[in-house]
Amino acid sequence: MDSSGSELLSVFLVFKSDSTRNRLREKLESYFPEQSTIDSFFSISEAIEKIEGSANAYRLALIEQEGQGVVLLKAILGLLPGVVIGVVTENSELIGSLSSQETPIEVLDPADVESGLYRILKKSAALGRLPSPELREQEEFIAIGIESLSGLTPLKSDVYARIRKDHYVCVFKKGSILETGDLKKFIDSNRTEFHVKASEVKDSLTQVSARLDELANASEVSQAQASQEFVSTHSLLRDVVGQLGFTPEAQAIAKSCVNMALKALGSKPKLSEILEDLKRKEGAYIPAHSFMIGNVACALAYRIGWSSSATFFKLSLAAFLHDISLKSETYAKLRDISSAHEAGLENEEIKLIKLHPVQASEYSKQFAEIPSDVDIIISQHHETPSGDGFPRGMPGKLISPLSALFIISQDLVDAVLEDPETRFEEFFRANASRYEVGQFRKILALLLK
Ligand SMILES: [Fe+2]
Ligand SMILES: [Fe+2]
Repeated sequence: MDSSGSELLSVFLVFKSDSTRNRLREKLESYFPEQSTIDSFFSISEAIEKIEGSANAYRLALIEQEGQGVVLLKAILGLLPGVVIGVVTENSELIGSLSSQETPIEVLDPADVESGLYRILKKSAALGRLPSPELREQEEFIAIGIESLSGLTPLKSDVYARIRKDHYVCVFKKGSILETGDLKKFIDSNRTEFHVKASEVKDSLTQVSARLDELANASEVSQAQASQEFVSTHSLLRDVVGQLGFTPEAQAIAKSCVNMALKALGSKPKLSEILEDLKRKEGAYIPAHSFMIGNVACALAYRIGWSSSATFFKLSLAAFLHDISLKSETYAKLRDISSAHEAGLENEEIKLIKLHPVQASEYSKQFAEIPSDVDIIISQHHETPSGDGFPRGMPGKLISPLSALFIISQDLVDAVLEDPETRFEEFFRANASRYEVGQFRKILALLLK
């Protein structure tokens, strides 16, 4: 696809409110000056009536969900295969169930439709599904956390510090080799992030991917090196994906990182050795525990005879992706929604926590050529054997075998992080009554054999 933005973009909007429709129209016209045709409708039924027969002319549709039912929404989605779709709703779970490979749906928050639109346009342009929008200068930079930067040396692009809104100063030139000392003065002055131009980030991602592939093909990779590479890659991807979506380069890195971690793990991972390695926790909670869960899940799988390389890949990729949409380390540690309420979090934050399994599983669905089990594991990673998990609170007996194994691994990693002296046999025995349902019970029986 032409990414110059010169092609015509046909859009339709379905919003009840005149002011929302007008605001979005203005936004779209600023992103695609003189290159967009925009049709707007008051309701889904009006839209269905008017677009039937010409629906394939549209490239982008933003639709406000009406009421609780999905009949009309399903009907209009059926007319729009291949169209980029954003649905404005508070009920993202419902929409998640309507999303498919052919018609992936982005959920937009009713309270902030404009940033949702911006996110969809950036992501769709990166994936080649829509022409690139014309963005204002301040939107061309993406933030990269200091810890992500260490994985990018030698730098493939200039790195900037934001001095104030819309004002960036180059602090490291492309080609520079960063030493820990180079970042010290910034860390000392409490700077937590730098910026790179969004158009230049691709080269950095390709560089990281090549390094990970080289390691995955090396004769040996130590757990210490794997853990360090995993943590810096995960941090970088979390920054990039949150701003640009899961681009093909980002997908390639995630897969390369998982292959590298599996290389270090070997085909016969021993649980006792893996748990010993967990004591050397490196990096912040989200990347560190994602690495640990992947390793523990493979070691448990091996122990119960589910030792194919395909299963290891599914578990490790699920571990890599499962919390990647979360912004805060604290949020990733929450195991139930009631403790989020008790912690006094705002409703908006609670919603993000509740839906992160759905969002991460949506990311995994965008990957080409990966087994569907991965998105199921991710979407179920906060469900529980007792059925009081989130987002769905699904009964424990319906949780899939690999998800159950993943949830047990997650519980075990939590226990080890809390008490590094945790013995796995004791952990399984102590939790026997918790895992007394469906696939959990079967797995536990095999583990204790
Ligand atoms: Fe997690
Ligand atoms: Fe999570």
